[in-house]
Amino acid sequence: MSKSITAKDLNVYYGDFLAVQEVNINIAPRSVTAFIGPSGCGKTTLLRSLNRMHEVLPGARVEGQLLLDDDNIYGPGVDPVTVRSMVGMVFQRPNPFPTMSIRENVLAGYKLNGSRMSKSQADDIVEDALRGANLWNEVKDRLGKPGSGLSGGQQQRLCIARTVAVKPEVILMDEPCSALDPISTLAIEDLISELQQEYTIAIVTHNMQQAARVSQKTAFFNIAGTGKPGKLIEYADTSTIFNNPSNQQTERYVSGQFG
Ligand SMILES: Nc1ncnc2c1ncn2[C@@H]1O[C@H](COP(=O)(O)OP(=O)(O)OP(=O)(O)O)[C@@H](O)[C@H]1O
Ligand SMILES: [Mg+2]
Repeated sequence: MSKSITAKDLNVYYGDFLAVQEVNINIAPRSVTAFIGPSGCGKTTLLRSLNRMHEVLPGARVEGQLLLDDDNIYGPGVDPVTVRSMVGMVFQRPNPFPTMSIRENVLAGYKLNGSRMSKSQADDIVEDALRGANLWNEVKDRLGKPGSGLSGGQQQRLCIARTVAVKPEVILMDEPCSALDPISTLAIEDLISELQQEYTIAIVTHNMQQAARVSQKTAFFNIAGTGKPGKLIEYADTSTIFNNPSNQQTERYVSGQFG
């Protein structure tokens, strides 16, 4: 598990509107990359294009290439459903399926794929995924209870369990802690550091300290103005981006002078 992500001249559109322009980036396997930048610069848009969720919106499309290792996920004949099982996504607001139990939530990806499995196989998947998300001990006695009955931080770890259950190569996270309290945030950050041993992770965050804590690499995006496309301005080691960036826009952003 765990593949590199390479974007080559990636443009991301909503209809005629070019939201993200000419992204070129190479993200190593088993690493955490933070996406930072001011609101509206296209972080979410780019993230959603990395697992072909962007194109679900009418008129939304991309140009360029997006490689997982050497395979272009936008190549001819590639099934977006397969791509999404390889590239999992965790959203800003914890979104467990409200009518499903904790156990059913973890297995939801398999249900969507139409996979068949024995009860004991399912038990193993549930336990492994919940352990992987550091949630097992808190929920093992109530797996049949609704996922929506957990705290916000637990729900977010349940969503991470649901994502890792299908054994993806890459995990994308869009501000996964923005709806959480500081303790739950630290729990998720610890979890990200553990998951990094097995997965390639890209995380959008507005929290600079968080980027510094969890990521090895940081990509800074910016926009020249309203209606202009977002661009990748600088991509480097996280310590370089925060302490010694080469671009003046990065410098101004990380020192809090705008954005
Ligand atoms: N569904 C949509 N249809 C049309 N334009 C959109 C849509 N979603 C986002 N956009 C536009 O694309 C640009 C990038 O938005 P995006 O949500 O990717 O920014 P972001 O960097 O994630 O911002 P934030 O930090 O506020 O989450 C913005 O100009 C936004 O208005
Ligand atoms: Mg966003």
